[in-house]
Amino acid sequence: MDQFVIVGGVPLRGEIEVGGSKNAALPMLAAALLADGCTTIRNVPRLRDVQSMLALLESMGVQSRYSGHTVVLDSSTLRLAEAPYELVRKMRASIYVLGPLLARFGYARVSLPGGCAWGPRPIDLHLRGLEALGARIALRHGYVEARAERLRGSRIVLDVVSVGATANLLMAASLAAGTTVIENAAREPHIVALGEMLRAMGAPIDGLGTHTITIEGQSSLRGVEVNNRPDYIEAGTLAVAAVITGGDLHLTSFPLEDCRPSLAVLEEAGGVIEPLKSAAGESKVRVRRAAAGLRAVSLTTAPHPGFPTDMQAQMMALLTIAPGTSLITEGIYADRFSHVPELRRMGAEIALRSNVAVIQGRPGLAGAPVMATDLRASAAMVLAALVAEGETRIRRVYHIDRGYEAIEKKLARLGARIQRVQE
Ligand code: UD1
Repeated sequence: MDQFVIVGGVPLRGEIEVGGSKNAALPMLAAALLADGCTTIRNVPRLRDVQSMLALLESMGVQSRYSGHTVVLDSSTLRLAEAPYELVRKMRASIYVLGPLLARFGYARVSLPGGCAWGPRPIDLHLRGLEALGARIALRHGYVEARAERLRGSRIVLDVVSVGATANLLMAASLAAGTTVIENAAREPHIVALGEMLRAMGAPIDGLGTHTITIEGQSSLRGVEVNNRPDYIEAGTLAVAAVITGGDLHLTSFPLEDCRPSLAVLEEAGGVIEPLKSAAGESKVRVRRAAAGLRAVSLTTAPHPGFPTDMQAQMMALLTIAPGTSLITEGIYADRFSHVPELRRMGAEIALRSNVAVIQGRPGLAGAPVMATDLRASAAMVLAALVAEGETRIRRVYHIDRGYEAIEKKLARLGARIQRVQE
């Protein structure tokens, strides 16, 4: 297993490009199952989760070619509409194959992604939505088995705003007979990205980026060539890196609109974000720390356009050194705080009361041996280590490799003293 060894205290400087979105790429790869022809997706980040999705698609007989950041997929060779436990347990987003398989092939067998279907991080909304489209669903031996001769368009009201359920239902509805309306749909940028791809494939879709999405189902969809958008969570993480280290970064391919909810809080906490226009007209921002320094803030995570839960841990790392008392309320995953004990090991003062973290910010994090506990928690550990005094060793960095492409190389190019070593 790899570790990161980071010596903190270097303000990051320079220019770096934001990579393609993981959370958009995953459903877009699954959407290739819906196409009659070949699908080409550009700007797909080289990440463990992307490899897991490709391995899953290949295990079903889909042919794929991945060169540079471009993936070409051909699902005409599919022979098995099944996602086995061994692959699904590595990545929850494997559930994204359920809707497309069912819609295109009339059958899908997909392992439950861990926990139970109605337990923590459940998939009940995916299943109920597919049932509303006419699927017959059974849970057997840890697998979801879904059947339908032809899905039928329907009106679906999601009880909770769910990115995953919205994506699965969008894909399924695109090949259903008739019109589907999804109410209380997710508005995340990756949902918009998926919807735009399905539109290009031939399904008229209205209301992307709003709570009500209407899909006109088609009898077939064509293969397309699409560009994936930049990752607003990686962009936000790099912006925090500039502010936490007191550096000065130029970030290119920066998805400014997608990042607004995070940037609003980052500015309140003492970040200065200056949009720049580069020669090629691409979006570029300059991020640094305000001369007045950092300030405590309070935030609550919520579905887009609220503050993203996927930026909560990184913002907490910053707030541990922002003078004053900050409150972070986790509104999506009540217990998403595995980074708290690790940040405490580095000297952070954080109290937890149910889903609220109370942070007493003060300068002076100290390097320590810590553990990466999940994807975004590990990003928080890297950020804290970049500003901590002395050396931090972060174990289990395979978590960070799920969602950040060669993050140590990007940070090193900006001046960070970071090395990947084998345990
Ligand atoms: C996606 C993102 C993840 C992000 C999360 C919330 C991907 C691959 N993952 O995860 O990075 O942290 O959105 O923005 O894009 N829920 C139910 N029943 C369901 C489904 C969800 O009750 O069937 C609840 C969940 O427990 C949670 C909330 O809905 O409280 C939001 O979850 P959801 O948006 O579905 O998250 P994911 O799609 O799994």
